[in-house]
Amino acid sequence: MRILILGGTVFLGRHVTDAALARGHEPTLYTRGLHGAGLFPEVEHVRGDRADLTPLRGRSWDAVIDTSCYRAAHAEAAGQLDVGHYVFVSTGNAYPTWPDEPVDEGTPTWTTVDDGYGPQKAAGERALQAAMPGRVACVRAGLLVGPHDNVFRLPWWVRRVAAGGPLPAPGDPGRSLQLIDARDLAGWMVELAERRTAGAFNGTAPIGQTTFGEVLDLAIAATGSDARPRWIDEPALAGAGVEPWAELPLWMPESAAGTWRMGTARAQAAGLRCRPLAETIADVAAWLRDGGERELGDWRAEHRPAPLSAAREAQLLALA
Ligand SMILES: NC(=O)c1ccc[n+]([C@@H]2O[C@H](COP(=O)([O-])OP(=O)(O)OC[C@H]3O[C@@H](n4cnc5c(N)ncnc54)[C@H](OP(=O)(O)O)[C@@H]3O)[C@@H](O)[C@H]2O)c1
Repeated sequence: MRILILGGTVFLGRHVTDAALARGHEPTLYTRGLHGAGLFPEVEHVRGDRADLTPLRGRSWDAVIDTSCYRAAHAEAAGQLDVGHYVFVSTGNAYPTWPDEPVDEGTPTWTTVDDGYGPQKAAGERALQAAMPGRVACVRAGLLVGPHDNVFRLPWWVRRVAAGGPLPAPGDPGRSLQLIDARDLAGWMVELAERRTAGAFNGTAPIGQTTFGEVLDLAIAATGSDARPRWIDEPALAGAGVEPWAELPLWMPESAAGTWRMGTARAQAAGLRCRPLAETIADVAAWLRDGGERELGDWRAEHRPAPLSAAREAQLLALA
């Protein structure tokens, strides 16, 4: 198949490009040439901005996989391209009630069109479904992990675990998490394009896939570290002003009860399969050992969590 990838050179899109090539397809990448421009020299690169798709006009593709859309207007414009099928990467934030409450694909998505990430993704979904009825798959992705992770939430933990010693760990080690390997999501999105599957899908691992404690144990095993997690309960974290999600990545208070409860039955029925998390964490550890962090550019770097300072870490460890 001739597959147009809108994006394709950082993390999820990079794995989509790999998956498309591995499955014998002919990808075309559309980017500005600012990030990962030297990747995939064997593939056609078309340069341009999402805000102006002129370089793509007058051509056709069997499918488009869109990893780079953050503006509804950009989705609306892309919906006018000559493509057979559209796989649109959306997010759990498309649901206004997430992460406070569990969601499945029947949960209403944002209907307001403000500038927020979730509302723009939801409006993008609607624009595409209106432009290409029955030919759009909207993949509402959960937390993506794996090599080349530019947002760096799981790598943050693997890097800290590798450094060893006592480490502050948030909340309950038994708290469940849902982490989707970007390679699994990417391969499955190529399959959605191949099969021309339409509809909305929560794109993440099954509820109850793993726990915070298991993630840290797997990171200890993958790095051969002597790290010893010291679990700090939620009231103590709140008392210390720990910012959920950002300061200790992947940690959300129990009150955000839907965070790790995105129903995935539809995606599983449509073929999404997840590799063992041990494999993902080992690959992330190997990527870090190979200097993966140095490859990270500024794309969405504002979402990358900072390391804890020694003083802050000592302050948190005293709470355990
Ligand atoms: N990370 C998560 O945990 C998470 C969770 C839920 C959903 N998501 C969604 O997953 C996707 C993540 O994708 P990714 O960043 O890993 O994808 P990617 O396709 O690997 O990287 C982003 C691509 O978009 C291109 N790009 C950025 N701005 C552009 C513009 N204005 N015009 C044209 N091209 C542009 C970049 O190249 P240039 O900069 O060279 O143009 C790059 O190739 C996003 O849609 C995000 O909303 C992520």
